[in-house]
Amino acid sequence: MGNSVSRIGLLTGGGDAPGLNAVIRAIVKSATSACIDCVGIEDSFDGLINSERARLLTMRDVTGILRLGGTILGTTNKGNPFAYPGKDGGVSDFSDRCMESFHKLNLDALVVIGGEGTLEIAHAFHMRGMPIVGVPKTIDNDIPQTTMTFGFDTAVSFASDAIDRLHTTAEAHHRVMVVEVMGRYAGWIALYSGIAGGADVVLIPEIPYDLEAVADRIREREHWGARFSIVVVAEGAHAIGGTRLLRSAGTALAVERLGGIAEQIAVELEALTGKETRHVVLGHLLRGGSPSSYDRVLATRFGSFAVELLQRGEFGVMVALQSPDIVAVPLDEVVGGHRTVPVDGDVIRTARNTGISFGD
Ligand code: F6P
Repeated sequence: MGNSVSRIGLLTGGGDAPGLNAVIRAIVKSATSACIDCVGIEDSFDGLINSERARLLTMRDVTGILRLGGTILGTTNKGNPFAYPGKDGGVSDFSDRCMESFHKLNLDALVVIGGEGTLEIAHAFHMRGMPIVGVPKTIDNDIPQTTMTFGFDTAVSFASDAIDRLHTTAEAHHRVMVVEVMGRYAGWIALYSGIAGGADVVLIPEIPYDLEAVADRIREREHWGARFSIVVVAEGAHAIGGTRLLRSAGTALAVERLGGIAEQIAVELEALTGKETRHVVLGHLLRGGSPSSYDRVLATRFGSFAVELLQRGEFGVMVALQSPDIVAVPLDEVVGGHRTVPVDGDVIRTARNTGISFGD
């Protein structure tokens, strides 16, 4: 196969997810064996705004990183080069500077490994003529057109383990434990870890809840002798007619920060049921640690396929899992949306059939 590229850049953007290093490793290994040079760009697009922050990546750089969380390239979720936040509160457009750096670094294409926000920036550069291949990343699992993103499996395993631990203390103290997990506008992590951890109630953004229904489930369990309950709540969940709880509102420069719902629910549930209730926020613990073997394999498949696409000269696309295959999908079919949990899908039905309440 003839190479349409001989030198590529790669960067990681947005919140980190276990498996980022596995993708970097797969790209560098596959590219090196196809005689393509790889330039690692630091801290997302910041490394193109200031091209000094780019370095050649060799096999030596990626040896031993498969199992590491985080990203050897660094990342940020605040550096949109089209609207870059200044210290004075103003905004600058550094997109021309990124285009110049791309040429100055002699790159033929750029691989962008990121979530929804980063892929949107990648798409904007693609529209300006930069050859782009995207790789989807997020623990939230909410990127359109891909059945799974790496990082999700690791986050779910960690959350399930945490729920197992909370079960024993909840049962010992006859308490209700409310566990908050990340996921932004999608309930995938809450749903999967709730099923895997044997939760009694799972609250997700896709199904607004009525706290009275949740209290009823807890009373019902008390009635037949289960004197404890586990409630898993996604950070973006909200009551019927209510809105999600924010730590800080979104601005032109930063996305909104979600969080705090578990504490609020714990206070209200204690008042409604009279049962002692505690809350736990798993937060960024879900993004840390070593990727699961599933995530290592998925990340490696994504990285390797990204290099195949570069060799074929296919740009403006994102690699995706459409089980059982890894495919390329146009970036413009990806940006601007979220893949949320289908409320009438089999996973929700399975949860309901096996006794999980969604508080509706
Ligand atoms: O998108 C990944 C994610 O972990 C979300 O689930 C969460 O809302 C957000 O990132 C938190 O981002 P930050 O690292 O800015 O707190």
